[in-house]
Amino acid sequence: MKQLLVLLALAMPALGLAEDLSASQLAGQKVFAHRCGMCHREGGTGTFVLARRLGAAQSLLEQRTDLQPETIRYVVRWGLTNMPRLSRVEVPDPDMNQLVAYLTRPRPAAAP
Ligand code: HEC
Repeated sequence: MKQLLVLLALAMPALGLAEDLSASQLAGQKVFAHRCGMCHREGGTGTFVLARRLGAAQSLLEQRTDLQPETIRYVVRWGLTNMPRLSRVEVPDPDMNQLVAYLTRPRPAAAP
């Protein structure tokens, strides 16, 4: 039993994600996959439009480090040109908070 626990503890980091996400960031990642991913991951219309407007480097929301919480909340609730608004039924406030925690998670600064 003790050995099993030690083994589990050793295996944990290997099983973890590349990034060390907090519980709410992890929950936000799930909300993103469910509500935003079809447009904002590889091949989505959101990714396509943002690549055209802002450049490829800014096109994937999950990789952005410049998104402000107010911007995310505003765009999700009110929409933006081709992006439809999402109601509190689709994205309830607690989900929105987790989404914001995920998309604005602090990351190590990129190499200059
Ligand atoms: C039906 C497709 C679709 C869905 C679903 C969608 N988006 Fe979008 N989103 C878009 C498109 C298209 C744009 C680009 C609008 C433009 O620039 O004209 C966009 C733009 C944005 C922007 C603006 C980025 C910037 O720098 O200007 C944010 C923030 C954003 N979406 C967040 C989200 C989040 C968070 C979700 C999930 C809750 C989501 N979107 C779901 C299509 C979508």
